Amino acid sequence: MDVPADLFHPRHYEAVRKPLLQAETLPTWCYTSDAFYQREVERIWRKAWNFLGHVTQVANPGDYLAMEFAGVPLFIIRGKDNVLRAFANACRHRGSTLLDHGHGNCGLVVCPYHSWSYALDGTLYGAPEMHKTEGFDPAQNGLVPLRCESWGGFLFVCFDNAAPPLAQWLGGLPDKLECYNLDDMVLTRRKTFNMACNWKIFVENAKESYHIGTVHRATINKYASARSAGYWVEEATGEYVITFAQHENSMALLKGDAGFPPIESLAGRREAGGTYAPLLYPSTYLACTIDCAWYLELHPLGPDRTRLVHGALFPRSRTTRPDFEEIAANYYKRWDITLEEDIIASDRQQRGVTSPYCLPGRFSYREPLVHAIDNWVLDCVLDPA
Ligand code: FES
Ligand SMILES: [Fe+2]
Repeated sequence: MDVPADLFHPRHYEAVRKPLLQAETLPTWCYTSDAFYQREVERIWRKAWNFLGHVTQVANPGDYLAMEFAGVPLFIIRGKDNVLRAFANACRHRGSTLLDHGHGNCGLVVCPYHSWSYALDGTLYGAPEMHKTEGFDPAQNGLVPLRCESWGGFLFVCFDNAAPPLAQWLGGLPDKLECYNLDDMVLTRRKTFNMACNWKIFVENAKESYHIGTVHRATINKYASARSAGYWVEEATGEYVITFAQHENSMALLKGDAGFPPIESLAGRREAGGTYAPLLYPSTYLACTIDCAWYLELHPLGPDRTRLVHGALFPRSRTTRPDFEEIAANYYKRWDITLEEDIIASDRQQRGVTSPYCLPGRFSYREPLVHAIDNWVLDCVLDPA
């Protein structure tokens, strides 16, 4: 499909705007065009609350996480006062990045170029040989802060000072998931994958069950239908969509594998027989099941490149058991197998939609959230009619 010059005019998307069973999928350029991707960076990633890490990764004063997100080098760091803060990873002298990507611990943030240094709260601590510079005020040369808030151990950064607080973005989600006691969970494994697909392709996959019988036919599908009593979309008040699957046993294990006991706070609740899986817009997937939780953190890198991080969360009391690693390996195995299946499917879809001969398709009744996600994206990026 040729990319129209007026790419963001609503008339190109009228078919996507129709109700699910009358609608078409997004035009293929939404997954391949650099202009569409740049608009998403500007209107989605630079406006939203972006999930960028777990509190387990920055547990002690001086612990930091440095990364580039939506084209912005930044870091999250825990202060001596235990407060988590985020800063632009750019020196106030001549702009060098301060911390290399990854995680670590430091007492001061020291620039590798001319050794300006910053306290963990971002204030300028030292600037050698600047005493002759006229009117130089150290108090005016602290790091540029970014908004940083957390919920349930998840760390979020927002680039937009006018955006509402995180609590408003989350809406009713914390109440819905309160019974899982997410604050008590520990991130026990974090695994990164580089995918050759647009971020929406992977998110759409994560929020439809239609592909399970095909893509996962030899793995989770083998017993999913036998144990599943239902799967439905629940009402959401906030910037998310959410499904609940009713079933026996843990969603995070393959049949027959040993697991941990159920989360104690679920006792007697409907949630003890199922799994909540919200997608917090734009791209944070979370699954809370009977005995653990897991998340998918997406970092868009370009129209056809996305970094995926899978995080495994277990109640703290499980992680101190002597047999923790042995039993956790069963969960890791299940996640690794199904993630690989989903990544292969997503990369295949990207190759297909990149073809000039790929046309928009139609949705089945089992893809309501793909349709909802695509329309949320259009709400963000299109020009007014
Ligand atoms: S650029 Fe950081 S001290 Fe010069
Ligand atoms: Fe899948």
